[in-house]
Amino acid sequence: MPQLQIRLYYKNVTAEIIGEENGITPKQMKSLHQKTLPIIKQLNRERQEGKTPYRDLPFKTEIADKVKGLAAELEDQCENLVVLGIGGSALGNIALQTALNPFMYNLDDKQRKGPRLFVFDNVDPAQFGSFLDWISDKLDKTIFNVISKSGRTAETAGQFVIVRELLLDKLGPDGLKNQVVATTDPAKGTLRKITDETGFRCLEVPDGVGGRFSVLSAVGLFSAAMCGIDIDSILAGARDMDARVSIEDFYKNPAAINAAVNYHFYNHGKKISVMMPYSYALKDLSDWYRQLWAESLGKAKDLAGNEVHIGPTPVKALGATDQHSQVQLYREGPNDKLFTFLQVNNFDKDIKIGQAPDCAPELGFLAGKDLSALFNSEKKATEYALLQSKRPCLTVVFDKVNAYSIGQFIYLYEVTTSFAGALFGINTYDQPAVELGKEATFALMGRAGYEKLAQQIQPFTELDGDFLV
Ligand code: PA5
Repeated sequence: MPQLQIRLYYKNVTAEIIGEENGITPKQMKSLHQKTLPIIKQLNRERQEGKTPYRDLPFKTEIADKVKGLAAELEDQCENLVVLGIGGSALGNIALQTALNPFMYNLDDKQRKGPRLFVFDNVDPAQFGSFLDWISDKLDKTIFNVISKSGRTAETAGQFVIVRELLLDKLGPDGLKNQVVATTDPAKGTLRKITDETGFRCLEVPDGVGGRFSVLSAVGLFSAAMCGIDIDSILAGARDMDARVSIEDFYKNPAAINAAVNYHFYNHGKKISVMMPYSYALKDLSDWYRQLWAESLGKAKDLAGNEVHIGPTPVKALGATDQHSQVQLYREGPNDKLFTFLQVNNFDKDIKIGQAPDCAPELGFLAGKDLSALFNSEKKATEYALLQSKRPCLTVVFDKVNAYSIGQFIYLYEVTTSFAGALFGINTYDQPAVELGKEATFALMGRAGYEKLAQQIQPFTELDGDFLV
């Protein structure tokens, strides 16, 4: 059966709907068209020259084969899969799991097609300690997938060293070797060194692919495959989208339109970009998008080295939950946001709402309706209300949430980010500002070679009692 394509609906950002003061006029759309068209060609060229290796990932079936092979090998010995990673080494894993496995996956053995999955992307000792208390008598049935491209990220390194000691202590050197899968750089870095020395099973973060663009590599695919997700369909969906975002016709290219609309609103006072799925399954994709957008587009300098301090602020919201916490602000606060709704036409399950109690006839309008109809009416109602307040709204429409549509969505947003970066004229693929925080952590934790930085940091980090109230 042919798979359905996700669609981007953009009429509700136009002047026709929200007026000339806030919406995009036909003249402005024409100029966005003219500005973006050469960028479509430029990105296609860069891709052919091998400058954007993330774009090749959906075609690397050898990665999926290796991942599936390893998942099959570990299937019988794994009741719990624990991912240790942060940022681009965790958010995609979480997003795939929430999107493609049932809500009760970890708790209900009947709904579970693989091991329970736990992703630790933080170093909160209370949280991690509670988990270790639970897992420490199940280590022989647990696989730890430590993911770090560099291997020097303090959070992941800290978690890994704790787990390493626990495994050595409880299961000995063979246990350590058997229960860890390392996903890291093929040739260099700290985790590569440890992996080679210990003999861990390992998977690779492909060369030239940054963390936030790596979900379609072994980084995101291994935990997905272990948990019974159809990774071939994810990649097929991404390939489908690859064809669409390569089309050299602005109006037929969803990534080009998406980026151009976002770029336009950023330059017209709407510097905040809210992603609001009306689907629990899609909720962690907004987290993944938030990192992709923020790290890629938030830059101090443009490509010519001019100081620009540019970047739309991505915000995540969840329909209908946040109607009751954010929408007051979104409608009546500053008109400085572009909204992107994620809408699902057909949910995996639907539930009929029963009869209202006799004493509450005012609830009768719900009787006999599908819960999905209520959910999607909430989306339409919120969008209508925002449009009445002249707020621009995009919608990504999913016929269904499945591996194929999720693959399309991920790839759409990755390439949209490349388009947006090119429109803003910045380097989409570096993250210099994140590095200083990483190095400052090393300095604060007493790592050799960071003594000077530790001294520089002191006046900013030591509490001055005069200012403590
Ligand atoms: O997107 C990125 O590059 C970052 O978010 C990294 O993924 C994150 O900092 C973790 O880095 P590493 O995989 O090297 O541990």
